[in-house]
Amino acid sequence: MTSTDTPSADLPEHVRANREYWDSMAESWVAPGERSWAHDSPTWGVFSRPQSEVPFLPEDLDGLDAIELGCGTAYVSAWMARRGAKPVGIDNSAAQLATARRLQAEHGLEFPLLHGNAERVPYPDASFDLAVSEYGAAIWCDPYVWIPEAARLLRPGGRLVFLCNSVVSMLCAPDDETEPSTERMLRPQRDMHRFAWPEGGVEFHLGHGEMIRLLRGCGFEVEDLIEIFAPEDATDSGVAYAPAEWSKQWPVEEVWRARRV
Ligand SMILES: C[S@@+](CC[C@H](N)C(=O)[O-])C[C@H]1O[C@@H](n2cnc3c(N)ncnc32)[C@H](O)[C@@H]1O
Repeated sequence: MTSTDTPSADLPEHVRANREYWDSMAESWVAPGERSWAHDSPTWGVFSRPQSEVPFLPEDLDGLDAIELGCGTAYVSAWMARRGAKPVGIDNSAAQLATARRLQAEHGLEFPLLHGNAERVPYPDASFDLAVSEYGAAIWCDPYVWIPEAARLLRPGGRLVFLCNSVVSMLCAPDDETEPSTERMLRPQRDMHRFAWPEGGVEFHLGHGEMIRLLRGCGFEVEDLIEIFAPEDATDSGVAYAPAEWSKQWPVEEVWRARRV
């Protein structure tokens, strides 16, 4: 693992808080990470939708320089590497990266893993063809910082793809993470940006209009916004904010696909 680490005291307050939070949570992500590394076909979101239904990864990854922003246990990077891409993963949590490094060794798949903040990536401008984030920078970094950074890292024509909670889900998810979302909106959409949760993490979510303006302002053309619903035969996912009946009616997650002009 390469360390590009900034001392914690020099990190922005939310990055410091999220480093502490994710280092403390990493143990509970070991088993899901192991399962995902062992799985060869990518699935996406809390209802494990197949790539054929939720086309998160571009079809042809062969030879692409790719970066995963907030890679966690790095199974998305592993899926990209197996399809011919040359991934680099960056994550803010040394504990998450320790799992990623162990799984690399177990699966005989090596690619660079950096310990650092995805809002400031130590690579030159235009280093990558593809930047992805599945619940990494996509929700844990400030979009007004990480999206311009992703634009800087991408070559002209390069792609940015990220998966995050849907806007409606963020309006309905209770503060208590063990409680289910209901049909009641619990917070305003106006000025939505920073969400500090009682259990410790700090997330960021924007409404669709603001996200489109931000992406376009950073030099991206928005290609798609894929809203993810639970399938008709779904039973509860085990994730409280995503009850099956709720998620059949409203999108629980969304995938943004954008191209660097
Ligand atoms: C839910 S995981 C997503 C990663 C991967 N898809 C997974 O499920 O293992 C969230 C990851 O984002 C990372 N993260 C949070 N803030 C970050 C930041 N500022 N820079 C890089 N990674 C960050 C956390 O350390 C954590 O590993």
